[in-house]
Amino acid sequence: MVKIAPSILSADYTELSKQVQLAEKGGADLFHIDIMDGHFVPNITVGPVIVNAMRRCTRRPLDVHLMIEHPEKMIKPFADAGADIITVHIEAAHDIGRTIELIRKERKSPGVVINPPTPFEKASPFLEDVELLLIMTVNPGFAGQRFMPELLPKIKEARRYIGKQDFKVELEVDGGINMQTASKVTTAGADILVAGSAIFGGNVAQRVRELRRVAEGQGI
Ligand code: DX5
Ligand code: ZN
Repeated sequence: MVKIAPSILSADYTELSKQVQLAEKGGADLFHIDIMDGHFVPNITVGPVIVNAMRRCTRRPLDVHLMIEHPEKMIKPFADAGADIITVHIEAAHDIGRTIELIRKERKSPGVVINPPTPFEKASPFLEDVELLLIMTVNPGFAGQRFMPELLPKIKEARRYIGKQDFKVELEVDGGINMQTASKVTTAGADILVAGSAIFGGNVAQRVRELRRVAEGQGI
């Protein structure tokens, strides 16, 4: 079954807990939190304080996507704040193997992320050691961008590789997921769909339900 991970980047922060409750009512499986540092990406979002606020809003897993340089310095603060999954970019400045180890030491689930121009081969050596691979289908930094269909072959390639190696790695896709693109991504092999602007800003519970339906190929 497909998992839906609403990205709170597009939520209304003046009523975060209400928005989270609505998403849960619609069947959200986990929550995706985008952390941007103004260096790795040209935008700044939130830090451990908001992750901790989210922790107090929901029991669902918190999926913390670190779009930051030197993520190794921030593993403990995000783990202490209540993250369950922590994903780090292959393209960021750090020793990836060591950062994965740090996440494990905090007893959290590690994941690696690749940007649109990064080939799958850059991530494959780490798949033995992580629980999640996140494939970006927009260049990270902002919500509401257009899905890049040219990334579908990369999702298929990752799915095939994970299956062949029999790794216990979930495949997550992030960027431009909406009612039109969701089924393409799940057909290509995604397990978890992240969606921000397609979920928040309307009837949140209904949009989560509808997104799952189209992702599972059932139409609205
Ligand atoms: C993009 C973030 C995404 C973003 C997705 O840099 O990593 O998680 O919130 O937003 P939508 O779903 O609007 O593309
Ligand atoms: Zn994200």
